[in-house]
Amino acid sequence: MTRDRGAVSGCAGLLICPVCTEPLTAEGRTLRCPRGHAFDFAREGHVDLLPAGHGRSTLTGDTAEMLRARRRFLERGWFAPLARALEDCRAALADDVAPDHGRGLVLLEVGCGEGYFIGGLAASSNRTAGPDGDCCFGLDISRDALRMAARRHPGVLFFRNDVHYRICLRDGCVDLLLDIFAPRNPREFRRVLRPGGRVVVLEFSKPTNALIRGLYNFYFNQVMTRTAGWISGDATAYRYLSASVETFKTLEQMKADIESAGFSDVEVHPLTFGVAVIYVGFVNP
Ligand SMILES: C[S@@+](CC[C@H](N)C(=O)[O-])C[C@H]1O[C@@H](n2cnc3c(N)ncnc32)[C@H](O)[C@@H]1O
Repeated sequence: MTRDRGAVSGCAGLLICPVCTEPLTAEGRTLRCPRGHAFDFAREGHVDLLPAGHGRSTLTGDTAEMLRARRRFLERGWFAPLARALEDCRAALADDVAPDHGRGLVLLEVGCGEGYFIGGLAASSNRTAGPDGDCCFGLDISRDALRMAARRHPGVLFFRNDVHYRICLRDGCVDLLLDIFAPRNPREFRRVLRPGGRVVVLEFSKPTNALIRGLYNFYFNQVMTRTAGWISGDATAYRYLSASVETFKTLEQMKADIESAGFSDVEVHPLTFGVAVIYVGFVNP
C-alpha cells in the first residue's frame, strides 16, 4: 500500500514559509502562509520552497545525468544494507516514541537526490506504522532530483531548499534526520530535530595518517571513481568525487562539527577502513 498524495499533504502543516517563516497550510495544490505567500505543488508532486533571491536560489545541485547514474548504481543494491539499517533505526525510534505520543514519526532526508533512502523508509513505514503513518520529507536543491524523486515516491513530500540557508520545517518537529553524502548544516539539523530525535550522517572521511592518506587518495582517485562509473554505466558521473576528496573532513573534525551544534553522545562508525563514516548524534530529551 502506498500513501497517496492527499495523506502526504496532511504533513505539509509542518512546513514553514521560506519568505517569512510563518507556518504553511495546504489548500488544494498550493501551500499558503498567513501573510499570503503561496507556493504551488509541481505536477510531479514536489514544491519549490526556495524563491528567487532567497538563499542561494541559483544553485542547481546534481544534474539529471548524475541522478540517473546514481539511481542505476543504487538499484544494484550496493547500499541495500544501509537502507535496512535505517529501517531498523526508524523502528527503534518508533518504539521509543509511540507509547508516549501515539503518533507516526517525522523523517527528513537532506540532499535526498533521486529519493532512494527516504523513499525506502516511507515504503517500510507504510508497512509498519499505524493508520496515520509517518511524515516523510526529502529536500534537495536540484529540481531534477525532486522531479525524479517525487515521480517514484508519492509517499514522501519533497521540497526544494538550500541546506546551507534554511530548512523550511518548524522548530523541533523531526524525529530522524538523514544526511547521506550530501552537504550539511548541523545547526539547522539541531533546530528542526525534536528532543530525543537523532541525526544520521554518512560521509566520506579523510584519514589523518599520512601513509594511509596516500593509499586512500590512490583508492579514491583511481579505483573508486572508476568503479562507481563502471557500475552506474556512466564514466563521467562520479568524476566529481575525486575532485572533492580534498574538501573531506577528518573523522574528528566531523564529530566536533556535529557536537558543537548541540548534539550529544555522537557515535562514530567507520566503514571500509574509514573511507566512509556513519555519525549518529542525539538531541537530549
Ligand atoms: C551525492 S548526492 C546524494 C543523494 C542521496 N542522499 C543519495 O545518497 O542517493 C548529494 C545531493 O545533495 C544535493 N545538494 C547539493 N547542494 C545542496 C544544497 N546546498 N542544499 C540541498 N541539497 C544540495 C545534490 O543536488 C544531490 O542530490
